[in-house]
Amino acid sequence: MRHDPVAQLYFAPLILDHYLDYAFAGVAGGKVVARAFSVPFAFHIDGRAELPDGGWDEVIRWAHDDRMTGRAPNVLSALEISLLPEARGGGNSRALLDAMKACAKARGFAEMFAPVRPNQKHLHPFMRMRDYIDRVGPDGFPADSWLRTHFRAGATLVKVAPYAMTIAGSLADWLRWTGKPSHGGEEAPEAGAAQKAA
Ligand SMILES: CC(C)(COP(=O)(O)OP(=O)(O)OC[C@H]1O[C@@H](n2cnc3c(N)ncnc32)[C@H](O)[C@@H]1OP(=O)(O)O)[C@@H](O)C(=O)NCCC(=O)NCCS
Repeated sequence: MRHDPVAQLYFAPLILDHYLDYAFAGVAGGKVVARAFSVPFAFHIDGRAELPDGGWDEVIRWAHDDRMTGRAPNVLSALEISLLPEARGGGNSRALLDAMKACAKARGFAEMFAPVRPNQKHLHPFMRMRDYIDRVGPDGFPADSWLRTHFRAGATLVKVAPYAMTIAGSLADWLRWTGKPSHGGEEAPEAGAAQKAA
């Protein structure tokens, strides 16, 4: 995902410095076991009437534009929560989610959004996203575990972001990024033979 050029508008070292008030670390036994990132942006102004179809990428672009033009942010977007494997499965993600919410409140932001990447979607590759997220368990919460965590924390669903995190690259790029060999001994096409994946 870090090959998404938009990610550099947030995660590039000198830029990330501007967002450190919105970045969090989870510590257990003196060791960092989790990290979380969020980004503030201006909403409901300058044509931003609804959340963008571009989701994760687009809120980063909006935030960058806000910083460049001096527009004051009024909402927060989560970007990532990652736990080391040893810290997973114990509800620790909720603490990081709560830390983001507290951060948004402390700055007087009206709302917090999360462009959530449902964790078990890859098990249903041919299901439409809308159908996938509408699947619920017996408790009425989403069947997808990561969506469920957000709903339990009080979230409601706003929309599907159909082209969030669109990472463009040639097949050769993708083979290199993912460390996969090309099949059948064929040469990977040169960069420029456009491939796109979301
Ligand atoms: C996604 C992640 C942050 C969840 O954090 P966590 O603290 O381990 O989550 P929880 O312990 O609160 O578990 C939430 C639910 O998911 C379930 N769950 C956890 N891992 C699961 C898995 N691999 N498959 C299916 N269900 C899983 C838990 O049983 C729990 O279910 P419940 O709601 O019925 O109780 C963590 O697994 C992680 O860091 N994953 C890698 C990074 C990532 O994918 N981040 C999300 C996108 S930014």
